[in-house]
Amino acid sequence: MRILVTGGAGYIGSHTCVELLNEGYDVVVIDNLYNSSAKALDRVQEITGKSLTFYQADLLDQPAIDAILDQETIDAVIHFAGYKAVGESVQKPIEYYHNNMTGTLLLCDSMRRHGIKNIIFSSSATVYGDPAMILITEECPKKTPTNPYGQTKTMLEQVLIDIRKSDPEWNVILLRYFNPIGAHKSGKIGEDPKGIPNNLLPYVAQVAIGKLPSIGVFGNDYDTPDGTGVRDYIHVVDLARGHVKALAKFNEEKDVRIYNLGTGHGYSVLQVISAFSKACGRELPYVIKPRRAGDIATCYCDPDKARRELGWVAEYGIDEMCMDSWNWQQKNPNGYAD
Ligand code: NAD
Ligand code: UD1
Repeated sequence: MRILVTGGAGYIGSHTCVELLNEGYDVVVIDNLYNSSAKALDRVQEITGKSLTFYQADLLDQPAIDAILDQETIDAVIHFAGYKAVGESVQKPIEYYHNNMTGTLLLCDSMRRHGIKNIIFSSSATVYGDPAMILITEECPKKTPTNPYGQTKTMLEQVLIDIRKSDPEWNVILLRYFNPIGAHKSGKIGEDPKGIPNNLLPYVAQVAIGKLPSIGVFGNDYDTPDGTGVRDYIHVVDLARGHVKALAKFNEEKDVRIYNLGTGHGYSVLQVISAFSKACGRELPYVIKPRRAGDIATCYCDPDKARRELGWVAEYGIDEMCMDSWNWQQKNPNGYAD
């Protein structure tokens, strides 16, 4: 099977390319390198000893995407490409809606005209908002997201559901990721955020490497065991493997399928700092700060549907996630820039 991976040079995309190549899939990547480096794809090929096809192209440039699809025979698309920074999306709603919504609509239009109707879409736990229940199952009602980034995820889920309603030949899989962290065991690929990281793990990693002085813990007065926010961190390699498992569903009845991809375990901010301290061999400094606007206390999922229907279970725990993240950070203190 030949798989088109949009956003394949990015953090989750590059790890997914490794798993796809390891499983014998042919891989074609489209990425405009807005938030990534072509080096990530070189490293994917080093890790696997296999080659992939890369097109530097923008999903908003439909003639370019059509030209690629004219010359490639694609069986399914894994669609990662999009902007993902929550805070930035509040500042730049036009850019976020345009890139994520228009980019996906143009992609689906091109896919339709080329007879490609199998798509896996990167959704997010953000669609559950402040979740109505813990553990979060796929039946948990969606809530209105508080930021444009989250809106694009929830709206694009609906767009894909409507496309499938209009044409039963479409096969749609919506994967709702919880909090992906960690890096490939080789330390050759990992998360390479631009500027000061917004998310916890890359921030902690940069404190560990000495680039930032201390971690700010956003609130210790939540209704959680130690008062800090609890999340379902998932190793990015486990997440990547979830995509490979999901591809098998395209051999079954055409449908819309939705899966949570998480571990089902929640870890607090302080537990993460402690696990990372263990991984890097020194106590990492932190200071308690006020709560961050829009944050929720607790978010972790019930991943059982993915286990039952995809035969997928996350293998790695928080210690391994932190060890692998630290390995990547140490080997690449400046990400792909070196
Ligand atoms: P990333 O920024 O590392 O990867 C996204 C890739 O898409 C980048 O390489 C970027 O250059 C590319 N891209 C963006 N717009 C494009 C366009 N118009 N045309 C072509 N390429 C374009 O992000 P990631 O963390 O790997 O996330 C991948 C997907 O998963 C995103 O859709 C994101 O919203 C979603 N997601 C991520 C997380 C997370 O915590 N990382 C959580 C939930 C969902
Ligand atoms: C964030 C996004 C969410 C997105 C997800 C992807 C926000 C509000 N939400 O989720 O939409 O799908 O990333 O992974 O940005 N924390 C600190 N100090 C920091 C950074 C974070 O204490 O410097 C805390 C947060 O308060 C939270 C936990 O760490 O309790 C995790 O935060 P983060 O990594 O930003 O992820 P989420 O907020 O869960």
